[in-house]
Amino acid sequence: MHLQTALTLPFLFSAIAPNYTTSPAGNPFISGWYADPDAKYFPSTSRYWVYPTSSYPGPQQTYLDAFSSPDLIHWTKHPNILDTSRVSWAKQKVWAPCVVERDGKYFLYFAANDIWPGDEQIGGIGVAVSDSPEGPFQDAMDTPLIGEYHHGAQPIDQDVFLDDDGSAYIYYGGHSHAVVAKLNSDMMSLDIIDYGNGTTEAFREITPPGYVEGPVVFKRRGVYYMMWSEGGWGGPDYAVAYGTAPSPLGPFERKAKILEQDPAVATGSGHNGVVNVPGTDIWYIVYHRRPLSETDENHRVVCYDRLYFEDDGSIRKVRMGVRDNFEDGRMIAWKTWHGGFEVVKQEMRNVIHEDGLGHTRALALLDTNFTDQVYEADVRVLQDGPPSQVVDGRAGLVFRVTNAGSEERPIFGGYYAALNAKTKKVMIGKFRDGSADVRIGEAELDIVVAKSYHLKVVAVGGTLELYVDDMTEPKIRGMDHGTENNSTVYQSGRNGVLAYFVQAGFDNVAVEKTRVPASRIGGGLIS
Ligand SMILES: *[C@@H]1O[C@H](CO)[C@@H](O)[C@H](O)[C@H]1NC(C)=O
Ligand SMILES: *[C@@H]1O[C@H](CO)[C@@H](O)[C@H](O)[C@H]1NC(C)=O
Ligand SMILES: *[C@@H]1O[C@H](CO)[C@@H](O)[C@H](O)[C@H]1NC(C)=O
Ligand SMILES: *[C@@H]1O[C@H](CO)[C@@H](O)[C@H](O)[C@H]1NC(C)=O
Repeated sequence: MHLQTALTLPFLFSAIAPNYTTSPAGNPFISGWYADPDAKYFPSTSRYWVYPTSSYPGPQQTYLDAFSSPDLIHWTKHPNILDTSRVSWAKQKVWAPCVVERDGKYFLYFAANDIWPGDEQIGGIGVAVSDSPEGPFQDAMDTPLIGEYHHGAQPIDQDVFLDDDGSAYIYYGGHSHAVVAKLNSDMMSLDIIDYGNGTTEAFREITPPGYVEGPVVFKRRGVYYMMWSEGGWGGPDYAVAYGTAPSPLGPFERKAKILEQDPAVATGSGHNGVVNVPGTDIWYIVYHRRPLSETDENHRVVCYDRLYFEDDGSIRKVRMGVRDNFEDGRMIAWKTWHGGFEVVKQEMRNVIHEDGLGHTRALALLDTNFTDQVYEADVRVLQDGPPSQVVDGRAGLVFRVTNAGSEERPIFGGYYAALNAKTKKVMIGKFRDGSADVRIGEAELDIVVAKSYHLKVVAVGGTLELYVDDMTEPKIRGMDHGTENNSTVYQSGRNGVLAYFVQAGFDNVAVEKTRVPASRIGGGLIS
């Protein structure tokens, strides 16, 4: 019987290739401040692996954690795979790990100490070894592999690429210079690059236009791709561009910027890894970004999105998706007010406290800032308020939330689209900066407790539509012109869910931008 299980499980995992447009269980997909992720699939483990920098001030960057997953949804943290106690020369600023497997050994390339030209201190790019991708890794050489500047490139941000013929290359470089060198098959000493024309070199400069740091190289259909980061890592403009080359030694011709900030989703999106689902043409870009409400430059989180190639081999611009199906049992991206929420059976629910349903005004928000949008989720009322409850209980979606109030009082400014199981109505309404609750539209619906309803809001300017289940015509179409009684019109803000005076469950959250349909121009749009 155990043999049966052992035979079928790996088969099932390999049969289901993760085929997603973005992280289905939400971005960031791991919790904590991390940056500069490397992403790999190691067949010996049947798992995907992510190796990020710990994103804290330099003196606290003394260790590396790793994360692994069989399906890109359920992630296991492997803490402290390497730390400075296992590298005699590394003191701090342990950056941008990259792990490769060769002949059953795992080599972890890392940078440490952040050396600058003329520095007395030892530092640069080192290599540590382990028999397992989860470590523990031990420094292999007791000295950096690359411990000085070549071609103006700071020895940081290394990426090691193994070509099909067994040749190994190390790409690296900060301070706006990119360099490639060849590694010997021991993976911890440098070979000489021989061009076959009488010229040899240990370090070749391959800086493409716009390059700042963070190179990563991979091969698809015989073409070598290099991605790198442009802009300043601490600001909103950090971004990823790519180029292609016919050879691993370049030159890489810059093609396009493919990942950058989206004012509706996050800023500072950069320093990426790339992973291919084995046996498929499904690719993901794994990168870090800064949540919209964060200003500390180290407040970076690790995310992934789908990477699509066009027929001509060019890469489509990456769309940072916003979804959460709670399949990982977690709600990493959500901030909650008053009592909070928890994930139960892959559904997010508001927690009922001893003060009773009647006092529950639960609000959970994503750190988004969408204007015109299509926002959907499954909503079900799990427990209605007591019959004596005079206030209408409500469970639903909130959008364009601009003022989420304090921890204690989840008063906000913004719109809601909600179900009321007691009055058997669906409604669109507005909380006007905490004071007034303005009904914009409502309709009858025979709402059943515990049944799930798919709510879809289409908000274009002041036109707010609510669809229920798979209806093609909106159940409610409301307008908020904002002129009557000088009321505030909310044009952008956070997305989230509310459960007022009820317990409710939420699932399959998704929000994306919409473009203005021509038929709506002049139909109540905010200019
Ligand atoms: C040899 O080839 C390399 C790579 O193309 C080039 O950079 C170098 O200038 C060449 N050397 C000579 C002497 O032509
Ligand atoms: C949200 O976007 C609007 C413009 O669309 C902007 O004015 C506002 O500052 C943004 N808010 C945040 C928190 O980024
Ligand atoms: C505006 O004020 C009038 C008079 O007080 C009231 O009847 C009306 O319902 C208000 N409209 C809105 C949208 O609040
Ligand atoms: C409308 O509200 C704004 C902001 O509160 C205020 O400055 C303005 O005087 C109001 N206009 C009228 C006509 O009441």
